[in-house]
Amino acid sequence: DGDVFKYYADGEWKKSSSGKSVAIINPTTRKTQYKVQACSQEEVNKVMDLAKSAQKLWAKTPLWKRAELLHKAAAILKEHKAPIAECLVKEIAKPAKDAVTEVVRSGDLISYCAEEGVRILGEGKFLVSDSFPGNERTKYCLTSKIPLGVILAIPPFNYPVNLAVSKIAPALIAGNSIVLKPPTQGAVSALHMVHCFHLAGFPKGLISCVTGKGSEIGDFLTMHPGVNCISFTGGDTGIAISKKAGMIPLQMELGGKDACIVLEDADLDLVAANIIKGGFSYSGQRCTAVKVVLVMESVADALVEKVNAKVAKLSVGPPENDSDITPVVSESSANFIEGLVLDAKEKGATFCQEYKREGNLIWPLLLDNVRPDMRIAWEEPFGPVLPVIRINSVEEGIHHCNASNFGLQGCVFTKDVNKAMLISDAMETGTVQINSAPARGPDHFPFQGIKDSGIGSQGITNSINMMTKVKTTVINLP
Ligand code: G3H
Repeated sequence: DGDVFKYYADGEWKKSSSGKSVAIINPTTRKTQYKVQACSQEEVNKVMDLAKSAQKLWAKTPLWKRAELLHKAAAILKEHKAPIAECLVKEIAKPAKDAVTEVVRSGDLISYCAEEGVRILGEGKFLVSDSFPGNERTKYCLTSKIPLGVILAIPPFNYPVNLAVSKIAPALIAGNSIVLKPPTQGAVSALHMVHCFHLAGFPKGLISCVTGKGSEIGDFLTMHPGVNCISFTGGDTGIAISKKAGMIPLQMELGGKDACIVLEDADLDLVAANIIKGGFSYSGQRCTAVKVVLVMESVADALVEKVNAKVAKLSVGPPENDSDITPVVSESSANFIEGLVLDAKEKGATFCQEYKREGNLIWPLLLDNVRPDMRIAWEEPFGPVLPVIRINSVEEGIHHCNASNFGLQGCVFTKDVNKAMLISDAMETGTVQINSAPARGPDHFPFQGIKDSGIGSQGITNSINMMTKVKTTVINLP
């Protein structure tokens, strides 16, 4: 069936023998845009076997050659930015310009990975025994970093290309093979990205991309004995995966409730601009989006007014028009967001704009005077709806931030950098941004969440290290 995109295994594009497909619904039209293969468990088994044998040869391929292929893939990916961005627009309703940015950023990430990899993997350690009590200088210990084996990469819908390559490139430079399971919304963008790796000429079987239903192959993949490491970005599913996975390293990033703490001396124009960028870009569908504003009461009116003026200027419409606010990814997501909004309404939040929804398109909404008994004070809408909680002390803000089950990023706005440092130390999050909205990038910065926000640390250097294991050889002198 020519209408169904093929999956990628053994260096070839294949139809699934299941004869079934999965539909990808365009969030804007709410009609089927593409179809992908519904791979079977048998096909997953095959891919795992191929990944295992391809990895053994790849690990022996010189590091500089691995880097060379990655640089090639990066260049090809950038050449393909227009058609891939078009898929992102259709599959996940990402605004057209942001979709292009995602692809270009991904090319840069791959190249940086190649460069970083040849440096950090090209070095090891040399230790001698006589520094530990009771030992003579009779043992020399050599360390190097070896690959883990087969890495299972599961990126989320909001960055199907970028958060795939942020797993693929570190895995490959470190000598691992990759099995990619893309999100359903975003699967075709991911397949096109994989095509760029294919064109670069990586060995057969080293990279595979299996598409299908989570219910059929989800657990089967994550619990597969052939998997040596899982790198996952997404929602609660990650918690379930971590409970079921075997004794393998896990890298997980599972969302957040990033707080924006605004002090009395903050530059309110700067804060308002960052709340718009942080809270509403890609319609709030970023794990690092500003998801709650904690503002000192004395400046709250002024800040809310400035934010409202900017909200009024946001364009709302289809991603093809490069609108600021585009339809959220699915109807169930829109329903979930609506549930949070209605709960806040019932409990007395102040609506700064009228709540408006057409299909999956939700107009940007700022909710003032939100209180802790409202669901939106704690849950992440993953949509263009942002709660404001007024606080009477910095401690109150820190307390709210730390009471969250999430701990991804946070930000604090003040001109007093000493105070900002103390607040950063007090906030139980993986990163705190001073005077800017939360963000993962630049992509070589460490990126990590604590509590339910994740396991391990990402960012290019950390991911490369995480996808290796230390190997030592000890020379025993006579
Ligand atoms: O959605 C989660 C992403 O890791 C956030 O990345 O800060 O570049 O939007 P971003």
